Amino acid sequence: MGEAYFDRYQDNGRILDDTWKARPNIYESRLRLLHRALTTKDPGKILSIGIGSGIFETLLRSRYGIEVAEAVEPSASLGQEARSKGLNVVQSTAQDYDYAGAPYDTIVYNGSSFGFIPDDEIEATFARNRDVLAEGGRLVLTDVPEESALGIILKLAQKYDIDRNDIDDLLAGTTFFNLNTHAYKPNWHPITWYANLLTRIGFTNVRYFQTVLANPPYQKDEVEEPIEGFTKGNYVAIVAER
Ligand SMILES: C[S@@+](CC[C@H](N)C(=O)[O-])C[C@H]1O[C@@H](n2cnc3c(N)ncnc32)[C@H](O)[C@@H]1O
Repeated sequence: MGEAYFDRYQDNGRILDDTWKARPNIYESRLRLLHRALTTKDPGKILSIGIGSGIFETLLRSRYGIEVAEAVEPSASLGQEARSKGLNVVQSTAQDYDYAGAPYDTIVYNGSSFGFIPDDEIEATFARNRDVLAEGGRLVLTDVPEESALGIILKLAQKYDIDRNDIDDLLAGTTFFNLNTHAYKPNWHPITWYANLLTRIGFTNVRYFQTVLANPPYQKDEVEEPIEGFTKGNYVAIVAER
């Protein structure tokens, strides 16, 4: 029995859509990153874990014709938003889900949703994900890396009592301009920590893509195309194969 789930988005189901509307260029860069990561091979049958309000899954369908077959979301308010967009969403955490539709060709955790899983439950959860993937199937993680400029500000603001006047200007150009209402992940690790974990439990062919290379105050200004690698981006995708 793991840690009890706490809904950081309770009664705040519109926050992700509101943020998307306010920072469209960053969401567009993130969509292109996700698409690049998902299409290193035919994505096949996709399970999205921590789908939130389903923004990216809706855009994948309308923009690229990529259908997400199944989704998991523990927050009632966010799951309701995703269902209202026509998505098939089960209310559950990744840890408790029974993976009813297995085997999957792709399991995706977009927008750091795995960063909400407690550290002492993440390895078992990724191992379960590996087991419900088809042979050659892929796990796709997208994250704000702990070591990125954005990650450093957010992690330190979360951990220490920093005066908001010292960070508000820095965050104004990011998707975290609304820090007073915007829930974000409690668990932070560098990209290499996740890559090492995935390799240790048997994933192979680990690849990386990155986007939003601009420093935080300028992130909202331009759409960026994803490039390979993980050492520069404020948003990084990890793709690992079973
Ligand atoms: C930052 S949001 C990202 C939402 C969406 N994927 C996106 O990119 O817009 C993180 C999501 O992870 C979900 N989440 C939190 N704990 C989770 C868990 N244990 N298992 C699966 N999802 C979880 C949250 O409810 C939330 O929807």
